Amino acid sequence: MGDQAEKLREMMRIKNGDSRESQAGAGFESRKRKPGPPGKAPNEKQPREGKKTRIITITSGKGGVGKTNVSVNMALAYARIGKKVVVMDADLGLANVNVILNMIPKFNLYHVIRKQKTMREIMVDTEYGISIVAGASGFSKIANLSEEERQNFIDELDTLSNADIIIIDTSAGVSSNVLDFIAAADDAVIITTPEPTAITDAYGIIKIIATEIDNLNMGLKLVVNRAKSVAEAKKVADRMTTIAGQFLNLKVEYLGFIYDDTTVSHAVLRQKPFMVIDPGCKASQCVQHIVGRMEKSDVKDTGGFGNMFKRMFSRGEF
Ligand SMILES: Nc1ncnc2c1ncn2[C@@H]1O[C@H](COP(=O)(O)OP(=O)(O)O)[C@@H](O)[C@H]1O
Ligand SMILES: [Mg+2]
Repeated sequence: MGDQAEKLREMMRIKNGDSRESQAGAGFESRKRKPGPPGKAPNEKQPREGKKTRIITITSGKGGVGKTNVSVNMALAYARIGKKVVVMDADLGLANVNVILNMIPKFNLYHVIRKQKTMREIMVDTEYGISIVAGASGFSKIANLSEEERQNFIDELDTLSNADIIIIDTSAGVSSNVLDFIAAADDAVIITTPEPTAITDAYGIIKIIATEIDNLNMGLKLVVNRAKSVAEAKKVADRMTTIAGQFLNLKVEYLGFIYDDTTVSHAVLRQKPFMVIDPGCKASQCVQHIVGRMEKSDVKDTGGFGNMFKRMFSRGEF
C-alpha cells in the first residue's frame, strides 16, 4: 500500500508555480501529466478494494457559475438519502464553502498543508448533517503548493475515507491543483451557465482535461446551472456533449440542470444552503434530481488513478 501511495505521490508531483487560472481553451501546450503506473498497461483493470468513497470534483471554466452552491447543496441532497458526506473547499485562493454555511472554522487546509493540523482535526460537522473541510481563504500564495506540501496534503486526504462521498469544490479555471483534483475524482462535474462565455470556458476545461489527463477513467459530467427552462439547458448540454464527442472524442454525460432561482441568491445572503431555506424550491428539486442521477450512474471501475486513490484510502483504520 505504501508503494501505491508513493506512486500516487509521484503522479501528483508537479512543478511549483504552474498555475493557469481561467484561461480555459487559450492555447495550452499539451503536458500529459498522468502516466499510468509503471509496468501497467494504461487501461488495465484493477479491482476495487475496501470501502468505496466516491470522490466528486466540481469544477468550471468560468468563475461565479455556481460551483460552491452546487457542491454544498449536492452534499445536502446526498445527506438526505443517508450518505455521509464531506465537502472539501479546495479553492485554495478564495474559499467560500464556509461563507455560504456561515461558519468560521478556526483551522483550514492551510494548517494541514503546513502540517500544523491533521485533516481530521480541521474537519468540522455542520448543523446540516454534512461535514466540511474549510479552504484556505486569503492565502493565495498556497494556491500552488510545493512538492512537500502537496505530499502532506495527499497523505492527509486518506483520513477522510470513512465518508461515502467527498465533494471537492475547486476554483475556476485550470491550475495544476485543479487538474489533480479532477484526476483523483471518480466524477468530474463541470458546471456551466447558458452564458456564451461560460459555455466557451466549460468547453475549454473539458478540452484541457482531455489533453492533460491520461487514462481518463472518471465520469465526465455536465450540469447547466441558472437555466431559464428545460429546453434552454438541453440546448446548451446538447451543444457541449456533441462538440466534446466530435472534436475530443470524449463522452460527457449531461447530468442535469438547475433553474435560475432567486432562492439561491437569497440563501447565499442568509448564509444558509438553499436546500435548507426551501427544500421544495426549483433549485433544490433540481439538485435532488441531479444526485438521483449520480446515484444511478455507477462509479467507473476501470482502474487507474481514481482507483489508486481508493486503494490508498482503503488502507489504515477504515
Ligand atoms: N441556480 C441559481 N439561481 C440563481 N442564482 C444563482 C444560481 N446559482 C448561482 N447563483 C448566483 O451566483 C453566485 C455565485 O455562485 P457560487 O456558487 O459562489 O459560484 P462559484 O463557486 O462557481 O464561484 C451566487 O452567490 C448566486 O447569487
Ligand atoms: Mg466557489
